[in-house]
Amino acid sequence: MNVNVIEHPLIEAHLTRLRDAATSPRGFRAIVQRLSTLVAYEATKDLEVFPTSVTTPLGTAPGKELRWRIGLIPILRAGLAMVDPILNLIPDAEVWHLGFYRDENTLQPVEYYDKLHEAEPVDLGIVVDPMLATGGSATAAVASIKKWGVPRVKMIAMLAAPEGIAALHSAFPDVQIYTCAIDERLNDKGYILPGLGDAGDRIFNTVRKRG
Ligand code: PRP
Ligand code: URA
Repeated sequence: MNVNVIEHPLIEAHLTRLRDAATSPRGFRAIVQRLSTLVAYEATKDLEVFPTSVTTPLGTAPGKELRWRIGLIPILRAGLAMVDPILNLIPDAEVWHLGFYRDENTLQPVEYYDKLHEAEPVDLGIVVDPMLATGGSATAAVASIKKWGVPRVKMIAMLAAPEGIAALHSAFPDVQIYTCAIDERLNDKGYILPGLGDAGDRIFNTVRKRG
């Protein structure tokens, strides 16, 4: 299956703190950044690089360079928190935003922002979103990215549910998924169990609602 659960002691330790209900929004954001860096490192292991040479102070050295246009595609809102750490690894990546929110009752993704089709498609699209739950948002995102004409698509998520992996792969089996863990299942409200709660609310400190 096209799913990579990245096994690493740092990921296990940071993920434990990410799940912790006592972790503050500030701490949560910092951990999302660390985990995004670690998972993105693994997710980019098979990037194609092209031979080049570089002039050092003492001569010429052979080297490698990235030539693909790489697009980071965060699903708003929560995916935004994963962009900066991955841009640190791939500074020339392009960032193309997609806006979806899940309807609380139907759990279906509702699109509110998509400008992908105004440009030439990138060579590789990397969807970033902390949560792959029912898979509705990711599947809608990949549908838009494929319609744009992107030939290779990967997805990086902090946590995935078996239901979300199955849904995304039943629509798009070629999409490689990279995650820190696959949890047990979804609850009846579509939340990942045991999960980490609502990622967007924890990142943006918007947990409080009117009573
Ligand atoms: C969350 C999450 C994903 C989506 C996953 O976003 O960040 O985008 O739910 O659920 P799914 O796999 O069932 O589609 P949410 O809709 O809560 O929006 P937000 O990021 O604005 O909080
Ligand atoms: N979205 C979240 O933020 N958390 C979940 O557990 C499921 C969807």
